[in-house]
Formats: sequence, C-alpha cells, structure tokens
Amino acid sequence: MVAARRRFLERGYYDPLSDALNELATRHLREGAAAGAGAREPAILDAGCGEGYYLGRLRRALLADGGSGEARCCGVDVSKEAVRAAARRYPECAFAVADINRRLPLPDAACAVLLDIFAPRNPDEFRRTLAPDGLLLVVIPGPDHLREVRATFRLLAIEEEKERRVIERLAGRFAPLATRALDYDITLDPEALRDLVAMTPNAWHLPPEARAATGGADTLRTRASFRILPFRPLPDAAP
Ligand SMILES: C[S@@+](CC[C@H](N)C(=O)[O-])C[C@H]1O[C@@H](n2cnc3c(N)ncnc32)[C@H](O)[C@@H]1O
Repeated sequence: MVAARRRFLERGYYDPLSDALNELATRHLREGAAAGAGAREPAILDAGCGEGYYLGRLRRALLADGGSGEARCCGVDVSKEAVRAAARRYPECAFAVADINRRLPLPDAACAVLLDIFAPRNPDEFRRTLAPDGLLLVVIPGPDHLREVRATFRLLAIEEEKERRVIERLAGRFAPLATRALDYDITLDPEALRDLVAMTPNAWHLPPEARAATGGADTLRTRASFRILPFRPLPDAAP
C-alpha cells in the first residue's frame, strides 16, 4: 500500500490538493511572522503522514517562500513501513511512529500548522499540540471523489455527511473556518488505476474478479474531489 501510494502521488494526480494546502500553510506562517508570533521556531505536524508526500512538498514550498523556511516539518503515522519510507525519502523532515488516538510525541502548543489528510483525528491531542494561534487543516474526500473508480472496482463509499461529522467531532476544541472545495477531472491509465485501488483501505477485501479487472482496465476518466476544512483552536474553557 505504501509503495502504491507513493507511485500514485508522485505522478502528480493530487498535486492541486498539495498546492492548495501549501498555499494555506505558507500564508498562515507568513501572517504569524508579520504579527510577531514567528519569533519562536514553528513546527508543522502532518498527522497520519503516510509516506510523506504532502509534508515533503510543503517543506519545499516553505523554503521557496523564504520567510517561513525555518519551520520544522514533522510527520507521524501508525505504520512503521510508511514512516520508514517517509524518513528515507525526506531526511530533512522528522518522522515518528505514533498512534493519533494516543498522546502525540510533541510538546504542548508546539505546532503552528497541523495537517490531517485522510487520516484519523484526535481533537484533544490536536488542540494540545497546536499553538493558540495555530491552524488545523483537515482534508476529507468530497462526495463525488473517484466516483467512477469506486463504481468500477466496488470500493468503499464515501461516508455520508462527512464534513458535518468532522466539524461536530472537533467542536468544543476547534472552530471551523470557510471550507475550500477542490474538484477536477483526472484520467487514470492502467498503472495509476492499479496503484489507486491498491492504496485504498479495502483493497484486500475486493472480490478476485474486481482485483483482476485492475490489470486489464483501460484508461478511466474520473473526478478528484476534496474538501479542505480549516479550523482555528478555541481557547481552553476557564477552570
Ligand atoms: C489514507 S492514508 C493517508 C496518508 C497520507 N496522509 C496521504 O494522504 O498520503 C491514512 C494514513 O493514516 C494512517 N493511520 C491510520 N490510523 C492511524 C492512527 N491511529 N494513528 C496514526 N496514523 C494512522 C495510516 O497508516 C495511513 O498512512
């Protein structure tokens, strides 16, 4: 799954998502620096970072941006294989094996930006590790994400009303800002299709005929659909 995810991402299909996240994170860090909050060395955490693609690209974008290049880029994932692949490919970032559902290996208020891209969320730990003026960016699939691929290969459906559920789960710790929708068409060749199916959580539960079909499939046009949900931390309730 890790290798398939890397091959798929490195072909650039989700670069518009990565670019949008980089723009939001870079702008946030720049504005923080202008306000004087940039005096401390900010950290960026990618929770559930997988093989590190988004964090590696964000670090490059921050360096290119000049002013915010000092941020320490950290990624955690529960998968040892993913963390090993990430650390090998992006030695300039720091990675650790950690479970998002438990205590994260970061001090309080260490992060200026916290990314959560198709990964589980932990409201209490995200709030603890994010600075009071930090930015949480959660990415979830839009309702039509890869609809044609899901139908052809009988992949799991997108959870209904996912956006509302995420906002509800984070409520009390985070206030939602305006959601950004990102939708565009992509054309997948057989290799990309195979990798896309192999990197989905239910790949091993596919019936044999569906899995075999990925080998013989021709190109498939489908829609990439993402929702970027930015949040700002709420102040701790008064004791
Ligand atoms: C769909 S993948 C997304 C990976 C990466 N964010 C990306 O978009 O390429 C979900 C990731 O979350 C990780 N994950 C799942 N449960 C986790 C947990 N409890 N703690 C940390 N990581 C977890 C998986 O190992 C996997 O790398």
